[in-house]
Amino acid sequence: MGTRDDVMKALEVVIDPELHQNIVELGMVRSIELHADGVADIMVSLTTAGCPIRNHFQTSVAQEARKVEGVTHVNVSFDVLSDQEKGALQHKLGRSNGLPTGALAQVANVICVGSGKGGVGKSTLTANLAAALAAEGRRVGVLDADVWGYSIPRMFGLGSDRPPVSPQRKILPMEAGGVKIMSIGFFVAEDSAVVWRGPMLHKALTQFLEDVDWGTLDFLLIDLPPGTGDVSMTLAQLLPQAKFLIVTTPQPTAQKVARRSAEMAHKVSLEIAAVVENMSGFTTPDGERYPIFGEGGGQELADELDVPLLGKVPLTIALREQADAGIPWSRWAPTIRRLRPRARSLAASSR
Ligand SMILES: Nc1ncnc2c1ncn2[C@@H]1O[C@H](COP(=O)(O)OP(=O)(O)O)[C@@H](O)[C@H]1O
Ligand SMILES: [Mg+2]
Repeated sequence: MGTRDDVMKALEVVIDPELHQNIVELGMVRSIELHADGVADIMVSLTTAGCPIRNHFQTSVAQEARKVEGVTHVNVSFDVLSDQEKGALQHKLGRSNGLPTGALAQVANVICVGSGKGGVGKSTLTANLAAALAAEGRRVGVLDADVWGYSIPRMFGLGSDRPPVSPQRKILPMEAGGVKIMSIGFFVAEDSAVVWRGPMLHKALTQFLEDVDWGTLDFLLIDLPPGTGDVSMTLAQLLPQAKFLIVTTPQPTAQKVARRSAEMAHKVSLEIAAVVENMSGFTTPDGERYPIFGEGGGQELADELDVPLLGKVPLTIALREQADAGIPWSRWAPTIRRLRPRARSLAASSR
């Protein structure tokens, strides 16, 4: 049977994703109790009580400790570093302006909006959901991670002006309707194609997360590119606390594709928060409803994944026109009204 020291050694591979060091070295393993029946009680100290990476620690600490011979079950509990301990940690990290130091330390919820394929309305929903959350009084940011087909600046009526840089050399996000926005679209010539190689992509996304001054946010919504490729993998690695919102259209084929992104989310251990069905039917001004893309796909997918269906957004000409025109949110009133209950239930299901 392994010893307490073996467990401690095993925990050296658990890295704090914001501080980029292992939790043993950071002094965050408060206590380890190893019982004769193979149960290990481990307490981890967090920098803040509402630490967004708590789940990440919960999973990886349990996983690593179980690798020690004789450990059959792991209970992970948490406490918070005292101010003095935080000071010591800060000193050790050579930082002076307060902990936690990760760029996203003040972001309460990170939500990746994804789907298996393009054209289902991820960007439209991301933009509208952001506006709806902002209208609810939440502090919201949108990161456009669709580096190939960025459309967020246009949807918010922003041009391709470069974002300013602060005296602290942080990139300041652009703002529209109270929503903070960052996109590669602000850095490249309009409509030019960008060829991304793996490492470059990784670097760009890292910079968008670490070198952008997002400040305090209730929600950071990330508009993912279609598919389950590099971007999603990189983000999952950088943001283990992120949750996934899956967008699908009502027909069975779209649902199948969306399921693939759910599988990907599982694979990289991101939690799936909910499903949104978009383009669910069109209602004529006379009130006649046409289910153009079929019915029920969103609910089916939500049931299958055992997550809530956040809502069904109908096909509406106004939504399309507003997305195209990039009308600021003050004039998105009808859309916001429609999305508000969705934003509210999303807010309720988050911290
Ligand atoms: N509910 C909707 N009603 C009408 N048009 C929509 C709706 N959702 C999306 N669209 C339109 O469909 C197109 C694709 O949407 P977009 O958000 O760019 O998809 P994605 O980001 O998934 O590729 C856009 O022209 C958008 O305006
Ligand atoms: Mg898009």
